[in-house]
Amino acid sequence: MKRILLSSATIVMCLGFLQAAAPDPASDHPQYSSDNHLLRPENYREWIFLSSGFGMNYSPQPGSHEMFTNVFVPQWTYREFLNSGKWPDHTTFVVEERMEQSKGSINKHGHFQTDSMGIGVEVKDESRFPNKWAYFNFDEGDKSAAANPKQACWQCHEDHAAVEHSFVQFYPTLKPVAKKFGTYKQAAEDVK
Ligand code: HEC
Repeated sequence: MKRILLSSATIVMCLGFLQAAAPDPASDHPQYSSDNHLLRPENYREWIFLSSGFGMNYSPQPGSHEMFTNVFVPQWTYREFLNSGKWPDHTTFVVEERMEQSKGSINKHGHFQTDSMGIGVEVKDESRFPNKWAYFNFDEGDKSAAANPKQACWQCHEDHAAVEHSFVQFYPTLKPVAKKFGTYKQAAEDVK
């Protein structure tokens, strides 16, 4: 019995080693088509989940319908952030928008997530983009997307994000990390 336990532990260790040695999938780094469009990051649901928002809106008028947002980063960039409080070059963020529902199955109160309405993608690619960060939208089924104009996305992230271009003020597990490394802009928390 002891021998069996030992050998299964050894197998688990070996599997762990194999996993650690496997290279990151290519789609954990930004990939582009020949016309400089960003390819959709297909496996972002296997990345690290940073946080959700519900009905977050930055204009005084409420939106027509409240949606959930789910934010993800690849595991390799998350690990680098934990060690430095900074985002490495080629970091990709995905914000996924999902419809909400309240009545359904046994649920009586509160809201749960349903269909995806598409994703927003943000890439730090210092040699490719003059402003270092670029922004894209993918509807369901879109395989590639062109960068959005600076005014549409870049400017708000530049002006209001707490760490470089990312809204770490809304990501509770990353906030203490950025504070520890001194990369957190406290003023981003001021109510505007
Ligand atoms: C008026 C300000 C504003 C504008 C304009 C804006 N964003 Fe954001 N963005 C935010 C805020 C606030 C968050 C953090 C929380 C959330 O909404 O989930 C965010 C989060 C994100 C994230 C997750 C990573 C991060 O930076 O924290 C991505 C990806 C993103 N936005 C993409 C876009 C894209 C693409 C556009 C343009 C179509 C855009 N954003 C325009 C305010 C803005």
